[in-house]
Amino acid sequence: MLLPSSGAWADTCKADNSSSEMLLPLFFASLASMAYTQAVGSQVLPIDQRSFNVLDNVLPPSLSNGTSIFLPPGITEEEALSKPFHVYDDAFYDIIGDNPTLTLIASEATDPLFHEAVVWYPPTDEVFFVQNAGAKAAGTGLEKSNVILKISLAQADAVSSMRNATGLVDVLPVDADPPVINSNGATNYRGQLIFAGEGQGAAIAPALYVMNPEKPYNTTVLLNNFFGRQFNSLNDVSINPRNGNIYFTDVTYGYLQDFRPPPALPNQVYQFNPSTGAVTVVADGFEHPNGLTFSPDGSIAYVADTGAAYVFYGYNGTSPTTIYHFTVDEDGTWSNRKTFAYATPGVPDGIHCDIDGNVYAGVGDGVSVWNPSGTLLGKIFVGATAANFNFAGRGRMVICAETKLYYATLKTEGAVVASEMPDV
Ligand SMILES: *[C@@H]1O[C@H](CO)[C@@H](O)[C@H](O)[C@H]1NC(C)=O
Ligand SMILES: *[C@@H]1O[C@H](CO)[C@@H](O)[C@H](O)[C@H]1NC(C)=O
Ligand SMILES: *[C@@H]1O[C@H](CO)[C@@H](O)[C@H](O)[C@H]1NC(C)=O
Ligand SMILES: *[C@@H]1O[C@H](CO)[C@@H](O)[C@H](O)[C@H]1NC(C)=O
Repeated sequence: MLLPSSGAWADTCKADNSSSEMLLPLFFASLASMAYTQAVGSQVLPIDQRSFNVLDNVLPPSLSNGTSIFLPPGITEEEALSKPFHVYDDAFYDIIGDNPTLTLIASEATDPLFHEAVVWYPPTDEVFFVQNAGAKAAGTGLEKSNVILKISLAQADAVSSMRNATGLVDVLPVDADPPVINSNGATNYRGQLIFAGEGQGAAIAPALYVMNPEKPYNTTVLLNNFFGRQFNSLNDVSINPRNGNIYFTDVTYGYLQDFRPPPALPNQVYQFNPSTGAVTVVADGFEHPNGLTFSPDGSIAYVADTGAAYVFYGYNGTSPTTIYHFTVDEDGTWSNRKTFAYATPGVPDGIHCDIDGNVYAGVGDGVSVWNPSGTLLGKIFVGATAANFNFAGRGRMVICAETKLYYATLKTEGAVVASEMPDV
């Protein structure tokens, strides 16, 4: 990602203000009331979207595109990073509370250790995550599998008043036995963790693995084929809280990162009923179906399509970077596909809801947050790609940004985790 010094584009912004709000006196009055009545924490940056509806110089696609980080006029990169909670809509204050904090808790020079599968395990108050399975800098993929790692939330809590606590939080390897090969997405599953494995070469098929989150980290393969055919590369997995079924995305990222053979299945979303063993397809028509989650009551499914990201083969700016919304019907099938949000910059990858049904996705500059109507409420800005993140109970979040790991404190909490639900 590059940070253009004054780069911007306004052509995709739509003015949605009513005409009365555009009257200048009211405009300044609302700015003033925001400045004087809102208790704004020291890490909070209010952004008025009207400040960039019209720019002096709208840069061409060669300088401002889906891989460029956009900062509104007058906001420097330094300010954007020092006040990482960017408020695009006042409703974001209810999510972040009076004094949100962001702390860098670990960093690596080049190894993308902090990538995906961010998942909280309440009994030990630990958060698990995985190394990037496809990145050249990780040396993983075809040569060797990536690794699973974990941190203690007690250690993260203890440093949350610091901005940079690198070295003060232990990042511990988790030696799954047998190993989870090229793990990517994960979630809580019946008191254990379930991982989507991307596979390795032609010999090791992508699979769903269940791992015991406590020593000896024993694993069991739950599913590794579709009627005898290898999946492309399983990417993410989510449990529907209403029917307990396992939903997962399958996409060609192993192939697009040169560690899987050419695909033989469409990129699509599957449903697995672990009681009957039935595997069905609930949605297709995506370019690169990636992150997957459900609303807190399980009635809505969200799928992030990272269509633009071809990884080793480039970035296609005319392809989707879009979150789609589906109705989950009583029988577990999906209907009513609609475009929920087109995310920028980068691509929307990991996706999770909070208890109020707001939708969060890791994108090219951090974590973006939308309300259930798809209105952008705010961002947790880290100035780089955050492929995944997750809530860790009330007021806590862990954000994976490849070579950097962050801990955030805020007001809201994640949608109830599946391990807290009765087995269905
Ligand atoms: C996108 O914009 C960046 C600057 O932010 C530039 O370096 C890059 O080359 C652009 N990409 C394309 C395909 O033009
Ligand atoms: C954070 O602290 C570490 C260790 O002191 C240092 O190497 C690193 O440069 C710091 N990072 C930032 C972003 O300040
Ligand atoms: C791990 O082993 C324990 C004890 O045998 C068993 O109860 C548990 O189901 C196993 N978990 C997995 C994921 O294999
Ligand atoms: C980008 O994607 C569109 C459709 O999604 C396709 O028509 C076009 O050829 C792609 N461009 C490149 C450069 O791959």
